[in-house]
Amino acid sequence: MRKQIAAANWKMNLSYAEGVQLIDKLIAEGIAPAAQQQVLLAVPFPYLDMASQKLAGQSGYAVAAQNCHQKASGAYTGEVSAPMLASMGLKYVVLGHSERREYFREDDALLASKVDMALSNGLTPVFCCGEPLSVREADAQNAYVAEQLRNSLFHLSADQMTGMVIAYEPIWAIGTGRTASAEQAQDMHAWLRSVIAEQYGASIAGQVSILYGGSVKGSNAVELFSKPDVDGGLVGGASLDAVDFAKIIRALK
Ligand code: 13P
Repeated sequence: MRKQIAAANWKMNLSYAEGVQLIDKLIAEGIAPAAQQQVLLAVPFPYLDMASQKLAGQSGYAVAAQNCHQKASGAYTGEVSAPMLASMGLKYVVLGHSERREYFREDDALLASKVDMALSNGLTPVFCCGEPLSVREADAQNAYVAEQLRNSLFHLSADQMTGMVIAYEPIWAIGTGRTASAEQAQDMHAWLRSVIAEQYGASIAGQVSILYGGSVKGSNAVELFSKPDVDGGLVGGASLDAVDFAKIIRALK
């Protein structure tokens, strides 16, 4: 079975002390993820080391960065590179979040180079895609999201694609409380898997974990994750509450 993943995206939230407390509370929930399950915490850069140390003994838990630069090193003040993340022992990085695309002008071509940099440093990208409301209202979401994958991922080798994690996050559902219905999520995930299958074959497409993101909560996770092509979630707001995020972890297949 492909990995079922509950990923917390803290975004730019929480003080250091609040972050420590949140992880302590999550550990106190005492969840032992099954072999096919993975919990990720995408925390702000300054908290990566703290989170890694706290989760070091917790099997099935890992820490992720929320971004990295496309270059390996150099005069890029304020940026963080994939080799730096790898040198801390990290294994995951979120790339292409819609907030980075919108506020930091990250486009498909830039993201293709970030994906390459991450992969060449042994990091698994959690690659985000998703359409804005106007595209959904025009019922053009399938072509829109497929294009995002094609432009940023389809230069990858079969081996590289096999290790990818994709997060489908419709922009209209992020932070709005307006979750995509489980059917809408399933339809899009099945479509994305078929697009990957067309390029790489059904076997590889069947191994790529596709997470849903956008107002996932403890109260809707079971229904969303019960869909066959929904392999877990990328969670913003609800991941800032240990009890609610624990519920989301328990909802994984
Ligand atoms: P919310 O769960 O707050 O809607 O955020 C989703 C998201 O953007 C996760 O990356």
